[in-house]
Amino acid sequence: MTSTVEIKKGLDGVTVDRSAVSRINPATNSLIYRGYPAPELASHVDFEQVVYLLWHGELPTPAQLERFSAAERSRRDLDDNLKDAIDALPVTAHPMDVVRTAVSIIGANDPDASAADPDAIDDKALSVFAKIPAVIGRDQRRRQFLPPVAPRPDLGYAANFLYTTFGVVPDPVVRDAFNTSMVLYAEHGFNASTFTARVITSTLADYYSAVVGAIGALKGPLHGGANEAVVHTFDEIGSPEDVPAWLDAALAAHRKIMGFGHRVYKNGDSRVPTMRAALDTLAKHYDQPEVLRMYDALADAMQERRNLKPNVDYPSGPAYRLIGFETNQFTPIFVAARIVGWTAHIKEQRADNALIRPLSVYTGPAERHLD
Ligand code: COA
Repeated sequence: MTSTVEIKKGLDGVTVDRSAVSRINPATNSLIYRGYPAPELASHVDFEQVVYLLWHGELPTPAQLERFSAAERSRRDLDDNLKDAIDALPVTAHPMDVVRTAVSIIGANDPDASAADPDAIDDKALSVFAKIPAVIGRDQRRRQFLPPVAPRPDLGYAANFLYTTFGVVPDPVVRDAFNTSMVLYAEHGFNASTFTARVITSTLADYYSAVVGAIGALKGPLHGGANEAVVHTFDEIGSPEDVPAWLDAALAAHRKIMGFGHRVYKNGDSRVPTMRAALDTLAKHYDQPEVLRMYDALADAMQERRNLKPNVDYPSGPAYRLIGFETNQFTPIFVAARIVGWTAHIKEQRADNALIRPLSVYTGPAERHLD
């Protein structure tokens, strides 16, 4: 019997709920967070202000920002059992596995993990948000046989993130470029990881479970893992002159070129121009113009051959490499930023919940019986 039910594979084009957190407009290639264009925020405000905006609906007043920032700065240190757990994980584990495990431990350390009123979620989210930089910094440093560096409460979020990873206070140019990337990664509608967080929340599971599940979804190369894959592609190609031959062979082999294409944007990702400008600044700061030649060569060739445009992972991968992050830490950095969006959606889902439980068309054997 053939079914007449229309199946929307990958939920492509399906609208499943309302949301006041952000809006992607593919027709105009625009993205707004609570009304403000994300590129405008990325160029003008600190990440902490965007976090406040996404969690509370409005940008903070100076007094609100001071309170929020003081609370965040006071929670950056990791508990001893979390430090020990990170250090005990094998370095063969992907850093995403380390971050996922870290969030589980932060949740297990919370005696009131299942509290779910908006204030309680804000409180839990603030702790996870404040600690993730130290988790990533500790993990990258142990892989390089370097001692951990304690967070610095006198530094803003982006500067502290870079400080706990590299052990030096960053140049303002680098800090600002990194801040831009964090703002651009903070939120993006009902993407796979955010939807995962909402599905888990819809069962009334706790905040930490939703974040751990979202981290799992973000790990995949079709989602967050693409920024890592971009620099592997650059390495594989070798030099800009080799792009045409490499790309022809890759497309002939039906390979997906990471950092290109998007489920929602079909005419270009709204975040790319701002992130590309940040990459330009970093390339100049580190005197590495070659990376831009490779960027342009592959982007031009993809446009010519497939009419596909870069997504935000395309400029952010090379930007993170220039800053000095190990390639396998790129997706954990994405976690640090996207936790902000996940949290806003977890709160929204909780506030007007319906269990998310779709249907499927059965294609197995017809009913049969044991003889
Ligand atoms: N490289 C090569 N071809 C691509 C492509 C890419 N990056 N992205 C899409 N295409 C092609 C597909 O092969 C397909 O071609 P076909 O119709 O001849 O089979 C067509 O474009 C549609 O792609 P599809 O994967 O069905 O679209 P989607 O909306 O499901 O995919 C992505 C969106 C993001 C999953 C897809 O573009 C992709 O895999 N990109 C690379 C991974 C990436 O950068 N992810 C980060 C997203 S922010």
